[in-house]
Amino acid sequence: MSAMPYSPVTEEVLAELARIVGERHVLTDPEKLEAYSHDEVADRECAAMPEVVVRPQTAEEVARIVRLAYERRIPVTPRGAGSGLSGGAVPLFGGIVLSTERMNHILEIDEANMMAVVEPGVVTNDINEAVAALGLFYAGYPMSLETCCIGGNVAENAGGGKAIKYGVTERYVLGLDVVLPTGQIVELGGKRLKDVTGYNVLKLMVGSEGTLGIVTRIILRLLPLPTAQVVLLVPFADVRSAVAVVPVLMTAGGVIPTAIELMDRLSVQASCRYLNEQLDYERAGAMLLIEVDGSDEEIVRRDYERIGEICLDHRAQEVYVADNHTTRERLWRIRRNIAEAFKVISPVQSLEDIVVPTASIPDLMPELDRLSDRFGVQMPCYGHAGDGNLHVTVVKDPAEPMDAWRRKLPECLTELYRAARRLGGTISGEHGIGSKRKAFMPLVAGEAELDLMRKIKRALDPRNILNPGKIVDL
Ligand code: LAC
Ligand code: ZN
Repeated sequence: MSAMPYSPVTEEVLAELARIVGERHVLTDPEKLEAYSHDEVADRECAAMPEVVVRPQTAEEVARIVRLAYERRIPVTPRGAGSGLSGGAVPLFGGIVLSTERMNHILEIDEANMMAVVEPGVVTNDINEAVAALGLFYAGYPMSLETCCIGGNVAENAGGGKAIKYGVTERYVLGLDVVLPTGQIVELGGKRLKDVTGYNVLKLMVGSEGTLGIVTRIILRLLPLPTAQVVLLVPFADVRSAVAVVPVLMTAGGVIPTAIELMDRLSVQASCRYLNEQLDYERAGAMLLIEVDGSDEEIVRRDYERIGEICLDHRAQEVYVADNHTTRERLWRIRRNIAEAFKVISPVQSLEDIVVPTASIPDLMPELDRLSDRFGVQMPCYGHAGDGNLHVTVVKDPAEPMDAWRRKLPECLTELYRAARRLGGTISGEHGIGSKRKAFMPLVAGEAELDLMRKIKRALDPRNILNPGKIVDL
């Protein structure tokens, strides 16, 4: 890390912040600050304390805070719900954490254009609840949708469980109001389904991990809510058999499923125990959760029957059909809670997010076995198999001393990332680089590409005050 000439947050700065947002929304009590020092990354070495947390309510307040920080050279780290998995919202250099928690309003539901205009602090699932009665939905489906914020989804370009059919966050972001690192406000995009007016700065902002701007207003595209939905739960004897069918499902069925999620035995077991749920996972080494949706029950039935046949032709032990809301939601809930369950059961771990071309997913499996043997670690595996995006979790053996784990983890990750790279993949599909994976960027990006990223960052943030220390070092 290079030394940064940052200024401390002085009493005078605190007074100025209080003038902008009101004293109640300037937090300095260390007990309160602690909650803003980490995200959901298990390793507390990735945490860092802010000097102050501010909770603005309007874009103008955000802009005034950033202008103050720009003038004084104080780092500002934007934060949504703190549910991120790469350290994106962690204030590595202290300074100001700018929490969007009070910017939590759905500003407009534009039925005629099938769009919603929201503030960044809106909980993602609340958008769905607000538009369901109109027969609409927001198609982003991060596993944390009941707790994460849409602003964080935009910052990380969140993926999730339904990306095979619906794509990831960026597909739905049509407009953004953004406070730039200099404190200027720009309005990017709008309620337009087509727009090629100049560089696509809007898309540059999506997934920039809070390093290029702070989003204060989001225009989201909505889709018609599917009226027919079926989830299949398909057990296999082992992970390799489950994974082997994924490329076949993607190509041979003539169907684009909504989801193909993998859960190995440890993942199902962990989540069931955590939720006090029952699923007969003992016999299955792995399961696929497959969803098909649409607006015509007959077509959905034909599609899931076809998918079920393919699975049974490829060593599935059984195909369970969940066709009502309660059972579907029960299965998805088990899937959504795996990460949280592992965090409770195995707190010393590294949750990974590699992604490979879907056809190569079976080739990844022997690599995982090899690494698990070589490094003597358990590597449970679950994730978005249909996207080639797997959450391999490297888990420390409780008997192993901490310093040995700290030495071995970077080596193990390097090998894992190299294996993904060899298959045409990369180190993060949806969680981002943040600080967690920054050191590994050269494994997947050449010097020219890294340099381009640095140039973009410097052009937008000449004083390097916005979420410094993330993605690439300058
Ligand atoms: C999931 C999160 C960890 O897929 O991305 O469960
Ligand atoms: Zn995921």
